[in-house]
Amino acid sequence: MKADILLGLQWGDEGKGKLVDVLTPNYDIIARFQGGPNAGHTIEFDGKKFVLHTIPSGIFNPKTINVVGNGVIIDPYIFCKELKNLRDSNIKVEENLLVAKKAHLILPTHRLLDAAYEMAKGKEKIGSTLKGIGPTYTDKTARLGLRVGNILRKDFLVKYNELKERHIKILKSYQFDYLKHELDGLNLSAYEEKWFSAVEEIKTLKIIDCEYYINACINSGKRVLAEGAQGTMLDIDFGTYPFVTSSNTVAAGVCTGLGIAPHKVGEVYGIFKAYCTRVGSGPFPSEDVGEDGQKLRDDGNEYGSTTGRPRRCGWLDLVALKYAIMLDGVTQLLMTKADVLNSFASIKVATGYTLKGKKLDYFPFEGSYDKLEAEYELLEGWHTDISKVVNFGDMPEKLLDYTRYIERQTGVPVKIISVGPDRKQVIHL
Ligand code: GDP
Ligand code: IMO
Ligand code: MG
Repeated sequence: MKADILLGLQWGDEGKGKLVDVLTPNYDIIARFQGGPNAGHTIEFDGKKFVLHTIPSGIFNPKTINVVGNGVIIDPYIFCKELKNLRDSNIKVEENLLVAKKAHLILPTHRLLDAAYEMAKGKEKIGSTLKGIGPTYTDKTARLGLRVGNILRKDFLVKYNELKERHIKILKSYQFDYLKHELDGLNLSAYEEKWFSAVEEIKTLKIIDCEYYINACINSGKRVLAEGAQGTMLDIDFGTYPFVTSSNTVAAGVCTGLGIAPHKVGEVYGIFKAYCTRVGSGPFPSEDVGEDGQKLRDDGNEYGSTTGRPRRCGWLDLVALKYAIMLDGVTQLLMTKADVLNSFASIKVATGYTLKGKKLDYFPFEGSYDKLEAEYELLEGWHTDISKVVNFGDMPEKLLDYTRYIERQTGVPVKIISVGPDRKQVIHL
C-alpha cells in the first residue's frame, strides 16, 4: 500500500477538515504531518460542529486510528483542551489517538516570543495566529527544542527551565513585558501550571515511534491518509515568504513529517475553494476588497476557525493553483464551498498577472514584495441553490462548465465538489 495525502492548495481553510472526515471511512489511519494549533479544521455532522487544531480529522470515526506525526508541534494545554471537548461529546479519543515521540513541544514562552516578534514587526507583521508556531519551529531547526519523548525523561524539568530562561533573555531584549502578557487569559505562571498539568495528561496517551509505526502500517496493507494543515501558498519554502507559516505544507512535508519515503506516496488530493481566501498579512493578487469580496465573506462565513479574524476574500487564482498542483504533484482535485457562489451572476477567475507592466503566467519571487495585478476571465455563474445537490446528474450545467474549465486549465480531474459545511453535502464526480 501507499499513503495518500490531502492538503490545501491555497492559503489555508480550504475545508480540509470536512473532506478528511468525508474520506475517513476509506482509511485505517489519518495522520497529521506538520503545523500545530495554528490550524483550525471544522467538521459538521448531525447538527454538531467541531473545530480541531492538533488532533487529526479522522477522530469522529471510531474505527480509525489518528496519528499526530513527528512534524507536528504540540501545545499540551491546547491539545488537552481539545481532548476534553471531544470527550465531553462522547467521542472515543484516547483509544484511537497516537502521538509521535519526536513531535516538538510549544512552550508557554514560545507563545510569548511569537507575540514579541509580531509586535516588533509593527506594520510588517505576519499576522501570526500567536500560537508560538514560528518560535517553536525555529528552536527545532536551531537544535534547542523539546519533544514529546522528553516529557518521559527525568531531566525534563531541567531542560524546560534552560529553554525557558533562554526565551526570557530574548523577551527582555525585545523589552517585552512577559509577566504582564496574558496567554489564553492567563499570566505566564498560571499558564505554566495548566501547561504542566496537561503534560501529565499527555504522558497517559499512547506515545509512539511514529516512523516505525506508519511504515509497518503501510507495509501490512493498512490505508493511510496524511492530513495537511495550512496551505501550499503558506509553505515556508514556496509560499509568499515571509508571509507564510514555519513548516513545509507541501506534499514533500509528509516524507519528513511522518517518516514516509517518497515512493510510498500514492494519491495526492489537492483541495481548493471555488474562490479564494487568506487570513493574516501578505500578497493575495486576486483579493477583492469591494462589494463582491464582502459578499463572499458573508455568504461563505469567512471568519477564522482559530482566531475568529475576518478572512480576506477574492477570486480563484489559477496561476497560484497551478503552481501548487506542480509543487504537490496533485492527482485529484477537491473543490469546496461552490455553494458560496450560488448568487453570483458571473464568476471571476485570475488567469495571469501583470507585474510592473509585464505579463506573467507564473507566480514570481517578486510576488512576495511587489504588487501583482491579477488578470481575469469572466465565467457565467449557475445562479441557483446547489446546497442540496448530491447527485452528479443534478448539478446545474454552469457548475459543470466551471468545473470542466478548471480541469482543462490545470490538467487534473475534480473528483469531489463540496456544497455546504455538512459531511453529507458533497457531490462525487
Ligand atoms: P480547514 O482549515 O481547511 O479545515 O478549513 P476551515 O474549517 O478553517 O474553514 C472552512 C470553513 O468552511 C468551515 O467553517 C467549514 O465548516 C466550512 N465549509 C467546508 N466546506 C464547505 C462548503 O462546501 N460550503 C460551505 N458553505 N462551507 C463549507
Ligand atoms: P488551517 O490548517 C489559514 C496563517 C496565519 C498567518 C501565517 C503565519 O486551518 O488551514 P502562524 O501562526 O502559522 O505563524 O501564522 O499563516 N495561518 C493560517 N491561515 N489557515 C491556517 O490553518 C493557518 N495557519 C496559519 O494567519 O498569516
Ligand atoms: Mg482552518
